[in-house]
Amino acid sequence: MFIARQQRNSHELSGQTGYFRYRVTAPDCDTLGIIMPAERILVVDDEEPIREIVSSMLTNAGYKCDKASSGMAALELLAAGSQFELMLSDLMMANLDGIALLERTKEKFPDMPVVMVTAVHDISVALSAIRNGAYDYLLKPFEREQLLATVRRALENRRLKMENREYQTRLEALVDAKTYQLQTAKTNLETAMANLERSYDITLEALGDALDLKDAETEGHSKRVTTYTIALGRTIGVPQDEIKVIARGAFLHDIGKMAIPDAILRKPGALNPEEVAIMREHCYHGYQMLKKIPFLAEAAEIVYSHQERYDGTGYPRGLKGDEIPLGSRLFCVADTLDAITSDRPYRPAQSIAAAREEIRRWSGRQFDPEVVKTFLSMPDGIWMDLRNQIDSQIHRFAYSTAKG
Ligand SMILES: [Fe+2]
Repeated sequence: MFIARQQRNSHELSGQTGYFRYRVTAPDCDTLGIIMPAERILVVDDEEPIREIVSSMLTNAGYKCDKASSGMAALELLAAGSQFELMLSDLMMANLDGIALLERTKEKFPDMPVVMVTAVHDISVALSAIRNGAYDYLLKPFEREQLLATVRRALENRRLKMENREYQTRLEALVDAKTYQLQTAKTNLETAMANLERSYDITLEALGDALDLKDAETEGHSKRVTTYTIALGRTIGVPQDEIKVIARGAFLHDIGKMAIPDAILRKPGALNPEEVAIMREHCYHGYQMLKKIPFLAEAAEIVYSHQERYDGTGYPRGLKGDEIPLGSRLFCVADTLDAITSDRPYRPAQSIAAAREEIRRWSGRQFDPEVVKTFLSMPDGIWMDLRNQIDSQIHRFAYSTAKG
């Protein structure tokens, strides 16, 4: 049977005259006429005549062939660093058969498809080889066209798999690069926003200082009342984002007084009813000034409501209970604390204990009982420390101005 197969193949080989035509379309040229390296095929067969015939067919078709006379010889070639785009292996060989060769090469050379060459009675073994990772099998005896078609298919399949993998890798690299760009842009944007927010706050600070000078109430009143409001807000559990809004509202609570004539604002004695009415408009003026600025729109609500009282007897709208924004309810306690513990033209500063007593007395009337409860739970030392911190900042500022 082997002899018959040899004769048949020899006959096919010698009878062929069209190999040159094949070489023109062989894989050593692409459509643009660029010379490509020939694909390398390892032919493994322990029968020399078959090995030679198969190699000749493939070489004539434009492929570059290496031959191995056994599974072990094939392994030696691969171990020595020879690389192949395809391995064509006989299934039945002494020592190391096709299945064992496949087993020992598939993990190390995953990009080298293996085509099994087998006799009819080995078909079930060939199928099991396919299940084990062989790409295809060729049944002996085979025609030259069958061999070349199988080889082309295997190589095309390999090329597509590799292109697909390269595409995936490029895609992943592209996604990584874009993700990095996005993260960088996000970080830059966050930094820019933080800088912008900081610039806003510096501007607001200057505005608050200007108001303190015009109002001449007490030095540092806006800063102290803001710090006290923040401390109360944090203790009662207000989230940080909301704290920022509340702090701006507290700091600018009397900004509307910019619109009040000095004759009323700085009048030493008591105001008459008409002057009181004008003075009370400062809440609305402040609201109008701030609500047009997107970054201060929420703080404007606190400014509008900072003179409201918990029982509804405040102004300008007579809001009651939870109708008053939480920021304003917190501010109200902080403002009273600062008023009682600061010097006034008509009386010296009183103790924090006195302020605690007064605030407790007005719980549920002027003040939100929950806020009062939180305030009373906080030790006196907090307020004293905060006041000292603000005072030292004011004095540093005054000193540097004097030097300038
Ligand atoms: Fe006010």
